[in-house]
Amino acid sequence: MSEAVLILKEVGKTYTSSSEKLTILKNISFSVEAGKIVVITGESGSGKSTLLNLIGGLDTPSYGTIEAGRYQVDALREEELTIYRRNVLGLVFQFHYLLREFTALENVMLPARIAGNSRSEAREKAEALIADVGLSDRREHYPSSLSGGERQRIAVARALVGEPLLILADEPTGNLDEGNSRMVEDLLFSVVRKHGKTLILVTHDSQLAQRGDQHYNLHNGELLCV
Ligand SMILES: Nc1ncnc2c1ncn2[C@@H]1O[C@H](COP(=O)(O)OP(=O)(O)O)[C@@H](O)[C@H]1O
Ligand SMILES: [Mg+2]
Repeated sequence: MSEAVLILKEVGKTYTSSSEKLTILKNISFSVEAGKIVVITGESGSGKSTLLNLIGGLDTPSYGTIEAGRYQVDALREEELTIYRRNVLGLVFQFHYLLREFTALENVMLPARIAGNSRSEAREKAEALIADVGLSDRREHYPSSLSGGERQRIAVARALVGEPLLILADEPTGNLDEGNSRMVEDLLFSVVRKHGKTLILVTHDSQLAQRGDQHYNLHNGELLCV
């Protein structure tokens, strides 16, 4: 039996303004085993990003607990959160967030350098991952001279280079046309499988659901196993 990389217990999120209480997530419990790909679908506004932000320590739950690796994420202080994100997570967002003044290769090397790899180790890992996403010939390019799909492929390589325990992807193809979306999805799934990584992917695209090991749907604040 594989160990759980992530465990959520009875997690909820509400936003309270002066006039109303808005329930976004209710009593969400699930766990993810090492090496699994979990796809969470849900319509726009269903709380997908909110859920990933809670797991990523970018937001705190109103109640419940979140354990990832050795960390109890909901209880971490700001400086511990930085360490948690650096040591445990690889992130891919809808927008690539590549640094414009660095080449593709330098962008991918950065998390490995921050994780303590030497320059040559970081370079070796980054080059291998850039090859995995099929962009070896573009590695010296700056983000501005890459296409949208290519930038996302570089962002996928960057998410894996620090050897994260858990990769979180929030609609990574949301800004791409259909052809590029399929290509980035294929590469994300294949590179995650090749490296035996654990992935949580949230998307409004229900077609992607079949490609994971587990599929959940977010609806009315509740997470249903599909
Ligand atoms: N800081 C906030 N304050 C109040 N409501 C918020 C806040 N952040 C998100 N929401 C609301 O939470 C709901 C879920 O948002 P989100 O998680 O971004 O959905 P999704 O990613 O599925 O499109 C939306 O109705 C959104 O307006
Ligand atoms: Mg979202």
